[in-house]
Amino acid sequence: MIALQSISKRFPDGTVGLDGITLSIPKGSIFGIVGRSGAGKSTLLRLINGLERPSAGEVIVDGAALSALRRRDLHALQRRIGMIFQSFGLLSNRTVAGNVALPLELGGMAKAEREVRVAELLARVGIADKAASYPARLSGGQRQRVGIARALATQPDILLCDEATSALDPETTRSVLALLADLNREMGLTIVLITHEMAVVRAICDHVAVLDQGRLIEVGPVDAVFAGSREQATLALLGEDR
Ligand SMILES: Nc1ncnc2c1ncn2[C@@H]1O[C@H](COP(=O)(O)OP(=O)(O)O)[C@@H](O)[C@H]1O
Ligand SMILES: [Mg+2]
Repeated sequence: MIALQSISKRFPDGTVGLDGITLSIPKGSIFGIVGRSGAGKSTLLRLINGLERPSAGEVIVDGAALSALRRRDLHALQRRIGMIFQSFGLLSNRTVAGNVALPLELGGMAKAEREVRVAELLARVGIADKAASYPARLSGGQRQRVGIARALATQPDILLCDEATSALDPETTRSVLALLADLNREMGLTIVLITHEMAVVRAICDHVAVLDQGRLIEVGPVDAVFAGSREQATLALLGEDR
C-alpha cells in the first residue's frame, strides 16, 4: 500500500534526514518505525503524506507516485491519510466536537451531516459525553481520542501516528493502543506508528523497521526482529527491555 523507493532527504542546511530508505508497508498492517531521537522517523512520516518531498527516490501510495500527482490529486490522497501527534494538535478555542468537525468543514460537508458524523466519531473513540468540552478540560488520553476522531473524520485508510502515546501514562497508553488495534481490525485501517517505546511496538505492531541516523537498519515481523537482531542500533533500543 505504501512503498518507499530509495528515499533520501537532505534539508536546505545540508542535514541528511534520510539516506536511501527502501521499505514497503502492507495494506492493513500496523507498522512500527523505531529509532532514537533524530533518526529520521518524523521526516519519514511527512514524506508519506506528501508534506515534505524527498530529495531523491519515490514515495508510492496505493500505486500512485506522489511526485507525479497534480496538486489536486495530492490533496485528494492526503484526505485519505490521517495523522495524530504526541502534542495532540487540538485547537484550544474549539470544543471537542468543533475540533473533530474542522476537517469536515474544510471539506465542505453540510452542517446537519457534519453533526451526525461528529457524533458517530466521538462515540467510536469513547468520548461522546465530552462533545461540548474544551480541550483544556480533558485528560491526555481523552485529548488523544479527540485527535484520533479528527484524524478519522475524512474516512482515511491510512493513519500515521507520530509518538502518539509518548505523552501518556502506561495505562492510558494501553487503552489508546487498544483503540488503534480495534480500528485496524474493524476498518482495515493501515497504521504507521512511530515510537521510541519498544513496549508499544510489542503491544500492537505486526512489522517493525529500525532507523538510525537516517538509514534503515532492519525491517521485518516484530518477533523476528526483536528476538533475532544482531544490530547494535536495535539492541540499544531494546536495552534491558529485551
Ligand atoms: N526542517 C529541517 N531542517 C534541517 N534539519 C532537519 C529538519 N527537520 C529535521 N531535521 C533533522 O533531520 C534529522 C531527522 O529528524 P526527525 O525526522 O525529526 O527525527 P526523529 O523524528 O526520528 O526524532 C535530525 O537530525 C533533525 O535535526
Ligand atoms: Mg520525531
